[in-house]
Amino acid sequence: MKDVLNGVKSSINRRKFVKNGLTAASAATVGVGLLASSSSAFAKNGPEEHSGSLTKGDAAILRFLAAAEILETDLWQQYNELGGIQDSEVPGGSGNSVYTAALAVLDSDMAQYIHDNTEDELTHEVFINAFLASNGADTVNLDQFRTLPSSKASGAQQIGRLTNLMQLTVDTSWWTRYRVGNKNPDFGDTFDQAVPTLNVGQHPAIPRTDDDLTPNDHIQAIANTAGFHFGTIEQGGTSLYPSLAQRITHPDVLRIVLSIGPTEAMHFQTWSDKAGNAPALTDPKDSTLVFPDLNSPPLGGEEFQTNLIMPEPTIFLSRSLPACSIVRPTATKGAAMGALKFLTAMGLFIGQSPAFFQLLTDLAEDADAAKNGRA
Ligand SMILES: [Fe+2]
Ligand SMILES: [Fe+2]
Repeated sequence: MKDVLNGVKSSINRRKFVKNGLTAASAATVGVGLLASSSSAFAKNGPEEHSGSLTKGDAAILRFLAAAEILETDLWQQYNELGGIQDSEVPGGSGNSVYTAALAVLDSDMAQYIHDNTEDELTHEVFINAFLASNGADTVNLDQFRTLPSSKASGAQQIGRLTNLMQLTVDTSWWTRYRVGNKNPDFGDTFDQAVPTLNVGQHPAIPRTDDDLTPNDHIQAIANTAGFHFGTIEQGGTSLYPSLAQRITHPDVLRIVLSIGPTEAMHFQTWSDKAGNAPALTDPKDSTLVFPDLNSPPLGGEEFQTNLIMPEPTIFLSRSLPACSIVRPTATKGAAMGALKFLTAMGLFIGQSPAFFQLLTDLAEDADAAKNGRA
């Protein structure tokens, strides 16, 4: 999937695309610029998004974060419909008792946590877009890309989705990344997978149909996949916010990013704890998917035991400085595009259109071009 982004980037002028997109689609379905700009604003100087009273860079960073939060909300909504608490705060689904019970094997509060994580993402999305609009800046709307199918399992709404939770390749290296004390991805270090077989192939994290509800170990493998995917998603947000904060200019924008980012870390640590309870098993319907005993070699022991859920102090900024308990990675260069590639590589957007990748690439490039105080 990485090639999709690279191909898009090299073959099409991104500005030209957005402009063509504006011409081809009705104004009501264009991804960027709905609330604050008229179509005539794009006519002469190209379709550069409006920043209003914000700096161009701050607005671009917030727009990328708004897009990321819209995507997060979409995926968490799918989890909540099948595995979360069903109430008016997060409406839409009717719950799937078999999947919910399998998730509860990881923790009896899983349904509550899924519900609350979903609600949090929705508020992030709505707040960032509202702040952009209140400053006269263009906002982000991805509604035209809500085209992917819903799960057909009992409990899910039948609506178009932005994200695909049924063909995931889940990078579980955060499990070891936060447990080793002498490595940091910002120094180029790489990390072993907790569940190597989840990081290859394609795996459902929600039941695709009611056929996925049996036998027990199969729906448990799906719930285990979700349990690790929760951590994978939220560690990404935990790194993305501090990475982008370093290039923000305005104190209010910095305050927003510094106040939302740590909630992603709260989510991540919760999920990091729960993933450690995923029972060891082999999926009876996919013998290539094996969840190991995380307290046995090559994991487990003093370094990797499952109750080590706080960040092990590690190298930071310079190897000559003392070890520090930190979020990692937090390098700012290319952080938005890195996040987009990470989400794409996990299969979250399988089935999306070239126009979707083009718009997300455009938003990421603009965020990565932001410079503190100068743009
Ligand atoms: Fe969020
Ligand atoms: Fe999040």
